[in-house]
Amino acid sequence: MLFKNKKTTSSDGAQPAKTKAPIADAHYLSVRESRAIAKSNARVIRALEKRKKRTHVSESEYLCEMQDPNNIVEFDDLRTYFFTDAGVSKAVDGVTFSIPRGATVGVVGESGCGKSVTSLSLMQLVQAPQGQIVGGSIRFNMGNKAYDIAKMPISEMRKIRGKQIAMIFQEPMTSLNPVFRIGYQLDEMVLLHTPGCTKEQAKARSLQMLELVGIAAPERVYRCYPHELSGGMRQRVMIAIALSCDPRLIIADEPTTALDVTIQAQVLDLLREIKGKIDGSIMLITHDLGVIAEMADYVVVMYAGRVIESGTTAEIFHNPLHPYTVGLQKSKPVVNRKVERLYNIPGQVPNPIDMPDYCYFKDRCTRCTARCEGEYPHFIQVSPTHRVACYLYAGEDGKGGPDA
Ligand SMILES: Nc1ncnc2c1ncn2[C@@H]1O[C@H](COP(=O)(O)OP(=O)(O)OP(=O)(O)O)[C@@H](O)[C@H]1O
Ligand code: SF4
Ligand SMILES: [Mg+2]
Repeated sequence: MLFKNKKTTSSDGAQPAKTKAPIADAHYLSVRESRAIAKSNARVIRALEKRKKRTHVSESEYLCEMQDPNNIVEFDDLRTYFFTDAGVSKAVDGVTFSIPRGATVGVVGESGCGKSVTSLSLMQLVQAPQGQIVGGSIRFNMGNKAYDIAKMPISEMRKIRGKQIAMIFQEPMTSLNPVFRIGYQLDEMVLLHTPGCTKEQAKARSLQMLELVGIAAPERVYRCYPHELSGGMRQRVMIAIALSCDPRLIIADEPTTALDVTIQAQVLDLLREIKGKIDGSIMLITHDLGVIAEMADYVVVMYAGRVIESGTTAEIFHNPLHPYTVGLQKSKPVVNRKVERLYNIPGQVPNPIDMPDYCYFKDRCTRCTARCEGEYPHFIQVSPTHRVACYLYAGEDGKGGPDA
């Protein structure tokens, strides 16, 4: 089914698809409308791709200042859209949160809420040309300076990707190349990011990494193809590849979803141990609140392309505020608590191509009031680390909290 696109604008002035033809049916696009969307998409994509593919770009264009030098990453009003034939899908629409140095930040939310797209934006790996960062900033702390990744050209991003920021993907079988041996894939990463490194040095480093991630026979595994390894071993290899260049930030996108519980526990232990060794930060994306409770220092809850609540793990688990976060907590199974059926949040996430102009959770919310008819709620700071986007905690003006 094709859906119409409401008026959409991006913060950098990119003009997404608009439909001019009269609307006969609320859900279907006419051929004329489809053509108008395709034409508009092509124009926007061409401009954005051209900008990304520039070479010899002056560093001053993407040099920036961290808001807090203790953060490794600051997402600031990030907007990543997909320019599809049915209209502009706002997969990530104004995401703001930070990852402090040395901390693990867990990102949770139901399927399709934009967790992976947020992390792929940080790696500049969003599926182009239809997927594009159209606005906002991703400030990355390089130590002595900071870069805005959202503005960096691809050529410069290649120097950071893998070296400073590494990603552990959800499915190791599809992320490892099936036709190359594990050793080749590990060496490639080291050789690419270590100037002057010889093949022998790269091999020594690869074997050291395999040993670090707990692989018992590194020499043998080094010569294996991915299909010769178990799921847990493949995931360990992925972690070894990700860590081989001592990244400052590790993005782990559902690192344990494809694994059985015993291997899951081992991989989580490994991640925790390695984080301490490299003194890095972790952005941990998962559906599993148990994993978050065990691993994360801070939690970011996303819903329909936006952050709806964020805080320390204790705040989110012991004092969840947003009705969606409360529902999420209720839907998690608890040992020693007998229930007929696990709670599920009724209703559906709104269509990302046609988002409402009020709270995106309103149609599923059991606590909504007359104020919720208004514009999308602002963030309310309830403690120095805890904030929530919900009218229940807003003052009279809809902005500050009741005590603000
Ligand atoms: N290549 C693409 N083309 C069009 N839309 C896309 C593409 N990739 C992702 N999306 C859309 O972006 C939105 C966010 O997707 P994303 O993969 O970030 O979800 P997620 O929160 O990681 O979900 P999950 O928990 O299932 O992995 C979804 O609505 C999805 O349909
Ligand atoms: S703003 Fe209103 S509709 Fe939205 S989550 Fe809060 S109470 Fe529910
Ligand atoms: Mg995902």
